[in-house]
Amino acid sequence: MGEGPKVTAKAHPNLALVKYWGKLDDELNIPASSSISVNLSGATTTTTVVFVTGAEADSVMIDGQAASPKAFARVAKHLDRVRQLAGTTARARVESWNDFPASAGIASSASAFAALSLAASRAAGLSLAERELSILARKGSGSACRSIPDGFVEFVAGGADKFQPTTTTIKGEVETCLKDDTAYARQLFPPEHWDMRITTLIIDQRPKEVSSSEGHQATRTSPFYEAWLAALPPTLETVRRALADKDFRTLGMAVERQAIAMHAVAMTSSLADRDWLSGIYYWAPGTVSLIQAVQDWRRQSLEVYLTIDAGPNVHLLCEAKDQAELERELGCLLLALGGRYLVSRPAAGARIVGEE
Ligand code: PMV
Repeated sequence: MGEGPKVTAKAHPNLALVKYWGKLDDELNIPASSSISVNLSGATTTTTVVFVTGAEADSVMIDGQAASPKAFARVAKHLDRVRQLAGTTARARVESWNDFPASAGIASSASAFAALSLAASRAAGLSLAERELSILARKGSGSACRSIPDGFVEFVAGGADKFQPTTTTIKGEVETCLKDDTAYARQLFPPEHWDMRITTLIIDQRPKEVSSSEGHQATRTSPFYEAWLAALPPTLETVRRALADKDFRTLGMAVERQAIAMHAVAMTSSLADRDWLSGIYYWAPGTVSLIQAVQDWRRQSLEVYLTIDAGPNVHLLCEAKDQAELERELGCLLLALGGRYLVSRPAAGARIVGEE
């Protein structure tokens, strides 16, 4: 058995400022609309990959333990994509560590597939450009593509050019399919562009009842989905501009409203296989307490805004100058809610940290 180079990569999770909710293609993870995020310095995934010629199967360890069958299948499928790109059949040994517990309620799939894409592609002898790497990561988990570039990032959904003609029918109509390479991530601003803080409050650590993949699919059943899609282009423009101008109030309000709108779509979506659910409720009672607290703080002139992903935890955004006051205000509330939080700054994207 021969071993290729052993490559280690690091990546951070990212927080969506404009959410990605709804896909055009569930298999390729082509989003219905663009989204914008910031990488979170407070959490890191470190992944080492080595390809072993002659090995019979891939081996995948996550946080020191053999991956569950479900996680293994997802990683092996991603390794197949890398093998296909590199023209190899060698199996791989993968070891991945998260410096935050899976139960911290921060989605680890974005940092996991970003670090895996970079480590595996390099270990297979590929040297992918950032755009190609983001496309590869996207196929593992849509939001993972945003953990590839540094800092503030846009996941570009692709415009009219995302369709390509495939065949012409007997009636002369052109049938189209989605192109794979028009949905990718690109940097909007480097991490040092704006010194903001993101405080992630861990409200509930239980595994969620409805995964984000199921949530994406269910969007089509919401009567508000078309309105959600129609609101996205102006929101994206507002957020891009507020980031460029460092206009925190405009940014914060747009981010908070858009997150609540995503949850309105989720709460009005239905799942065919769970007819006892009237909608998808990701919030816990503590989530609502925080929504109310944030509005009160703003009334008292503390500029804090929130956003919520597909789970109960709340991410608070403020400028660096307001972080100490925010943590003072959080004090009592945290005692009531269980008291755990993580503070991040805008961070770098995926990078190689070791090559032997
Ligand atoms: O990448 P996925 O399939 O886990 O979807 C991410 C969905 C949200 O976190 C709710 C929104 C986002 O843009 O990150």
